[in-house]
Amino acid sequence: MKQEYIEDIAKFEGKEVLIKGWLYNKRSSGKILFLLVRDGTGVIQAVATASAIGQEAFDLCSKLTQESSLEVTGKVRKDDRAVGGYELELTGTELISLSNEYPITPKEHGVEFLLDKRHLWLRSSRQHAILRIRSEIIKACRDFFDERNFVLMDSPILTPAACEGTTTLFEVGYFDGKAYLTQSGQLYNEASAMAFGKVYCFGPTFRAEKSKTRRHLTEFWMIEPEVAFATLEDTMVLIEEFLSSVVSRVIDRRKEELKRIERDTTSLEKIEPPFPRMSYDEAVQILKKKGQSFEWGGDFGAEDETILAQSFEVPVFVHHFPAQCKAFYMKPDPENKKLCLSCDLLAPEGYGEIVGGGERMDSLEDLERGIAKEGLPRECFEWYLDLRRFGSCPHAGFGLGLERTVAWICGIEHVRETIPFPRMIYRLTP
Ligand code: 4AD
Ligand code: MG
Repeated sequence: MKQEYIEDIAKFEGKEVLIKGWLYNKRSSGKILFLLVRDGTGVIQAVATASAIGQEAFDLCSKLTQESSLEVTGKVRKDDRAVGGYELELTGTELISLSNEYPITPKEHGVEFLLDKRHLWLRSSRQHAILRIRSEIIKACRDFFDERNFVLMDSPILTPAACEGTTTLFEVGYFDGKAYLTQSGQLYNEASAMAFGKVYCFGPTFRAEKSKTRRHLTEFWMIEPEVAFATLEDTMVLIEEFLSSVVSRVIDRRKEELKRIERDTTSLEKIEPPFPRMSYDEAVQILKKKGQSFEWGGDFGAEDETILAQSFEVPVFVHHFPAQCKAFYMKPDPENKKLCLSCDLLAPEGYGEIVGGGERMDSLEDLERGIAKEGLPRECFEWYLDLRRFGSCPHAGFGLGLERTVAWICGIEHVRETIPFPRMIYRLTP
């Protein structure tokens, strides 16, 4: 018999199917055994009686332990009370491998224990839902840009120099010299945009973040589009359209998972362009009015971001930051050289900054000065300066942090649950 998947079970009502999977849970009621079987695509209850499968197979079923791998055959029956709406009337069971004292039991476990057992924790229903949503978000991101004819141009992971400040660089040995793990694909994206017009890259990025917060990972994924001849305004419009499309796709296609993790989607359903906007100066005024001690020129802390986003149910833009608190490549505001053409997008409900972007410096002289001021090794940036020597043009783009976005859309506290194997200052295993 051919293997079928639980997610397709409705197609087989009244028929016998073969399911290969693992025992999620088991309970008995008199002479009936209820096996909850999961196969990665869903969970189904299989009902076993000795009269249907024979005493020997029934005894085998009663010995099955949590997470043993097995094959079951059974007849599909519609039952509105069952998980997923269908049940299997077991006709046969075969044990593949008995699991011995599976460490994650239905009782409560501490999060550090669960993170130590992350390789197994992935099997539990909540983690499963979150990571399915993550996968949907990734697909939605790719589809958005693919459908708009952006070319996927992956940036390298091993790089010779910093993009987002030298304090969070991971250094790695590179034969007789050294290299750094990329903090952002942006600089290479700019070269790709000059070649292809509209591009994006999507990959892991690395930052040696010493802060132990609910928003920081040392390895996280970023989707970064870059567009030649685009302005800050164009980028903000692109961000609005992009994020709205991703959110509505998840609401549409991952209803069951959102429900399973008890996400109230009322506020997510309100997300559509345009998003509210405030300048950095306006943001500082708001913070002061709310009694925050904040000095003009600095970047916002987590608490500041929460306060700024509080008055909105949808994501809010802050734009025109002081140049001094942003990266060296930001284009100065022609109307006020102290500011730069940058924007951050703050998610509602205290999730903080999920997007950073803006217009890039397109003047060779400004960029040479910026690189020198930052103390960056000029020789590593010659290729980047070439982009301003040979047909420089205005261009803009942004980076969306995937895990923070997943955390917000799922409504979960900490980014550690939004990536299969989180990397944080004190965690490198499993
Ligand atoms: O604001 P950032 O540093 O912007 C850049 O890297 C630009 N070069 C992107 C571009 O314009 N192409 O980072 C972008 C986003 C943040 O808004 C945040 O969502 C996420 O990346 N991020 C992190 N996510 C998890 N853990 C960390 N340590 C993160 N650092 C940044
Ligand atoms: Mg930022």
